Amino acid sequence: MAAPNVAILAAGQGRRMHSALPKVLHPLAGRPLAAHVLAAVRNLGPRAIAMVTGHGAQAVETALAAPDIRFVRQDPPRGTGDATRIALSVLPPDGVTLVGLGDVPLVPPEVLARLVDLAAGERLALLTARVREPLGLGRVLRAGDGSVRAIVEERDATDDERRIDEVNTGFIAAPTALLAKWVSRLTPHNAQGEYYLTDVVAMAVADGVPVVAQVATDEASVAGVNDRAQLAALERIVQRRHAQALMIAGTSIADPERIDVRGGLTCGRDVTIDVGCVFEGHVHLDDGASVGPYCVLRDVAVGPGTRIEAYSHLDSASIGRDCRIGPYARLRPGTKLAEEVHIGNFVEVKASTLGAASKANHLAYIGDATVGSRVNYGAGSITANYDGANKHRSIIGDDVHVGSDCVLIAPITIGPGATIGGGSTVTGEAPAGKLTVARARQVVVEDWRRPRKTPKSP
Ligand code: UD1
Ligand code: CA
Repeated sequence: MAAPNVAILAAGQGRRMHSALPKVLHPLAGRPLAAHVLAAVRNLGPRAIAMVTGHGAQAVETALAAPDIRFVRQDPPRGTGDATRIALSVLPPDGVTLVGLGDVPLVPPEVLARLVDLAAGERLALLTARVREPLGLGRVLRAGDGSVRAIVEERDATDDERRIDEVNTGFIAAPTALLAKWVSRLTPHNAQGEYYLTDVVAMAVADGVPVVAQVATDEASVAGVNDRAQLAALERIVQRRHAQALMIAGTSIADPERIDVRGGLTCGRDVTIDVGCVFEGHVHLDDGASVGPYCVLRDVAVGPGTRIEAYSHLDSASIGRDCRIGPYARLRPGTKLAEEVHIGNFVEVKASTLGAASKANHLAYIGDATVGSRVNYGAGSITANYDGANKHRSIIGDDVHVGSDCVLIAPITIGPGATIGGGSTVTGEAPAGKLTVARARQVVVEDWRRPRKTPKSP
């Protein structure tokens, strides 16, 4: 296949989304719709990519900016044919141009490559599909001999034409010079008053240029997104594919209908994932790791044998081998845990490292801290890392025992082997190997009497 020029149309408002966000930026599996189209066309090694923007152009261009994309604006959006004409104005004038829609995200690269190959023989190549529910889509009109005659948009179609179940997917490829000639001749004389790209089919037929339709076999791969229900339906399809691929590669997934991968998830051997988990960004689960129900993991590396228990929320953290996290744990960005660390229920860790076999099992906060190995961090204890203006660090040495309900006011250093008595508010140095207690002494008041209720006067 010779490298094609690519035009991606993404200027429309997406009125049916009822959204302030431009339609092509609505996320599918965590990435904007149009980013899926871009990823597919990049597989073809294109000579040049032009993306037509209009509605919310600034937002679209910022979100999708890349050195290989040339953005070009269409203002106002006057139809897919007009958008194609504008794209061609910034693409090389020769070779083959592939036109794709920014709201049809799942067309496989090999299908696009085939389309480009078909067009290379001085033909107009269309990607069509037979669908059960053609509502709203352009219909493919064929002559008695089966050759494609034209595409008619739903709103311009007769009742008979609306019964046709072969639809236009919106992806076409054609020799660039011919395509440029056709789109320059389009007129907006139709129900929507727009310049339809689809009208080039009848022009090709009139010019005696062969029109070939490649009929897609997989309906989902050519489905467009016009409203949020269609978006949700495609999301399920993508998620099912992710789950299927993971299971085939050896990951146990409790219910493939209840997992969401919004980025890349890689797994070692014998990884198990319970229901309702969401994986965002890049997540790696090493051999034998397990994730309990209803966890959220974003940009996390989990070491071998580590168990993440139910309802834990982990963001930008790296976790060593054989750790136990949760249930109800929160690891915030910059958390680094060595091996065999335990982080229990309602414990929050931020921008901190914990050495091997350290434990914070209940109701604690560790922020901006360097914690050594074998530290025991008691229930209800916190690092007070923020003075209202600045953040400060805490250094907690190896084998430290912090009792329950302690406040360690940073900056602070607790020497190796130190013990901090329960209920202490520690503001100064706590030396190695010593017990430091910083709380009011207990007093027993011998002659104290509990107040009695005064009897009401009758
Ligand atoms: C279009 C096709 C229809 C096909 C369907 C497949 C036309 C006229 N119709 O209809 O035959 O069955 O896709 O999903 O081509 N866009 C622009 N500028 C514009 C108008 C649209 O860039 O002026 C972009 C939109 O941002 C969108 C894409 O083109 O990404 C398709 O536009 P949309 O309005 O959704 O077309 P459909 O009605 O779905
Ligand atoms: Ca559409």
